[in-house]
Amino acid sequence: MTRIDTSSLFSLEGKVALVTGGSSGIGAMVAEGLLGAGARVYIASRKKDACDRVASELSSIGSCTPLPANVATAEGRASLAEALSSKERCLHILVNNAGASWGAPYEEYPDTAFDKVLGLNVTAPFALTRNLTPMLERGATPDDPARVVNVGSVAGLRAERLIGTGTFAYSASKAALHHLTRTLAMELGPRGITVNAIAPGFFPSRMTADVLKHRTREITAACPLGRIGRPEEMAGVVIYLASRAGAYTNGAVIPIDGGTSV
Ligand SMILES: NC(=O)c1ccc[n+]([C@@H]2O[C@H](COP(=O)([O-])OP(=O)(O)OC[C@H]3O[C@@H](n4cnc5c(N)ncnc54)[C@H](OP(=O)(O)O)[C@@H]3O)[C@@H](O)[C@H]2O)c1
Repeated sequence: MTRIDTSSLFSLEGKVALVTGGSSGIGAMVAEGLLGAGARVYIASRKKDACDRVASELSSIGSCTPLPANVATAEGRASLAEALSSKERCLHILVNNAGASWGAPYEEYPDTAFDKVLGLNVTAPFALTRNLTPMLERGATPDDPARVVNVGSVAGLRAERLIGTGTFAYSASKAALHHLTRTLAMELGPRGITVNAIAPGFFPSRMTADVLKHRTREITAACPLGRIGRPEEMAGVVIYLASRAGAYTNGAVIPIDGGTSV
């Protein structure tokens, strides 16, 4: 009988990870989890002060380095890839988490919102993954692929009556990111890189602070578990996808929503 070494199954010792939007909310939860599992973690976000402060706080767990960058622009993505490659030869885990929404009533919804939201939520994960593919290929071995994890959303899994103002561009962008995940899994699997997406329900963050403040009852009532998500439940799924345990999972979109999407 083959023995499974469960003691090291979820270990990320010796791995290098980059988390975009790692200075807040879900990105900070993921960065904390990856650090706890043993990875060396880089976090990227636009505001240098917040990026520096959160990296310094997380450094009590393990090596966490801030790399301030705007991933919504080609220049920002290029400078991020260059900054990372000046510090590391290879990358094992890329978490495309930075994202934004835009809410407005249907009649007033600006066309420009689509450019902004799709640019950050879809173009940026694609282009950053492509820029970092050489580093990911160097991090991959035949037994242990490099990993890309895209942060999608339950909003991209199913259409629902919108809570508050409309987020038309956001839900379209997350559905696009889920499908992009499948396409990239086909493209990059043969190169030793898995690509998966997670589709969170509600977790506490800057983005959700306002809606959670005013609509907690509706949000929790829509969830079979009757609550929002916890940081360890977010971190746990990404640790799984990044670890030996998740090496054969590719092209999946995993809801983390307490069953809200069913
Ligand atoms: N929280 C939820 O319930 C939930 C549910 C489903 C999906 N999500 C997804 O989870 C991801 C993280 O969202 P969150 O809720 O954690 O929001 P958040 O607390 O607002 O965090 C967003 C992070 O992204 C960074 N960011 C924004 N624009 C950026 C840019 N152009 N370049 C680099 N970094 C940028 C922000 O830092 P700076 O402002 O300093 O750049 C911040 O670190 C998003 O993709 C979101 O769609 C969240």
